[in-house]
Amino acid sequence: MSKRSTVRASESCDGSSDNDRPSKSDQLIGNSRALEEVLEGVKRVAPTSSTVFIQGETGTGKELIARAIHNASPRCARPFIKLNCAAIPLDLLESELFGHEKGAFTGAIAQRLGRFDLADKSTLFLDEVGDIPPVLQPKLLRVLQEQEFERLGSNRTHRVDVRLVAATHRDLEEMVRNGQFRSDLYFRLNVFPVLLPPLRERREDIPALVAHFVESLGRLVGRRIDHIPTETMLALRSYDWPGNIRELQNLIERAIILSVDGVLPNPLLPPGKGRCGVFPTGTTLIDSERALILRTLEAVGWVIGGRDGAAARLGLKRTTLIYKMQRHGIFRPYLNSNVEMAVSPSFSAVGIQGNARTSTKDRFPSECLPS
Ligand SMILES: Nc1ncnc2c1ncn2[C@@H]1O[C@H](COP(=O)(O)OP(=O)(O)OP(=O)(O)O)[C@@H](O)[C@H]1O
Ligand SMILES: [Mg+2]
Repeated sequence: MSKRSTVRASESCDGSSDNDRPSKSDQLIGNSRALEEVLEGVKRVAPTSSTVFIQGETGTGKELIARAIHNASPRCARPFIKLNCAAIPLDLLESELFGHEKGAFTGAIAQRLGRFDLADKSTLFLDEVGDIPPVLQPKLLRVLQEQEFERLGSNRTHRVDVRLVAATHRDLEEMVRNGQFRSDLYFRLNVFPVLLPPLRERREDIPALVAHFVESLGRLVGRRIDHIPTETMLALRSYDWPGNIRELQNLIERAIILSVDGVLPNPLLPPGKGRCGVFPTGTTLIDSERALILRTLEAVGWVIGGRDGAAARLGLKRTTLIYKMQRHGIFRPYLNSNVEMAVSPSFSAVGIQGNARTSTKDRFPSECLPS
């Protein structure tokens, strides 16, 4: 049974707001083994003050995890401070991190606190830490080791108590090998590594994520979705998601906007193609065979054997069809009475359950169930 994780990234322990809370829901969705392992690590490390180093492809939820760590830590009553090192021009980065005194450089008309000052007794999330230029790396190393630094234009040393969570989508080890990143800083950051797996390696989380976004984004867009067709869900599960959860989120939003009569269209199909295709790349013979089998199974309510079953309609022996289903990775989706896929927070992942309306053997032989 698919379920939602109970870890939340949006709620501070005392309910206070942080400095940069996103408007959309920050609930961490999914119960794949890969995500559960990550969350187990989060639970263990959150109560400590240790540096956490989050790695993962773009859109895998690095920032969400960083917020979850802060919110599960004793520092959660204080604001979560973040800085995206890739978004700040190089010459301003030092001042953003460590602050400056009035007159420290042209344009410094007043004293300004840096992120390390603001994050005192709290958590600092340094996003895209791999983009910190070599010239600033020694100063970052020092503040991590000694918890002290000087503002630009001042010799006064400031002591802080900052818990650092850093993230990057870059391969920092490779950057160390190439001499682009200091190895001592890398080791200082890599105290507690958290590796977020890409969505294509935890496809079992997709149905729950889709349901979550359909619900939350549906509210945002002002459209209610009552029905997700099986072929839409299968297409979403089959796609590789190079942009990971962010891409899924954006495509679901688009699909909600394009929906008619509460039915979620397949956002992976080119506009105007409606329900006539199953997979975005269904141009090969293998893809066409897969689509035909799937369509026939759906047309006969997933009855495989018998006179009116899919095997007879396709002109195949029952065992041949079962073999082909296995080869194509076709699983019968969970059916809730006569609805293909009801939108409910707790629906099962596609292809995990059988249906009691006809004999299990005819409708869905156990060989076709994923293990
Ligand atoms: N497990 C999850 N459950 C629900 N939403 C998620 C989950 N993981 C990520 N998201 C959502 O996906 C989007 C991208 O997440 P986030 O910004 O944390 O990714 P990221 O790894 O920091 O990406 P980037 O490297 O591009 O900065 C956000 O809107 C976030 O709320
Ligand atoms: Mg990010």
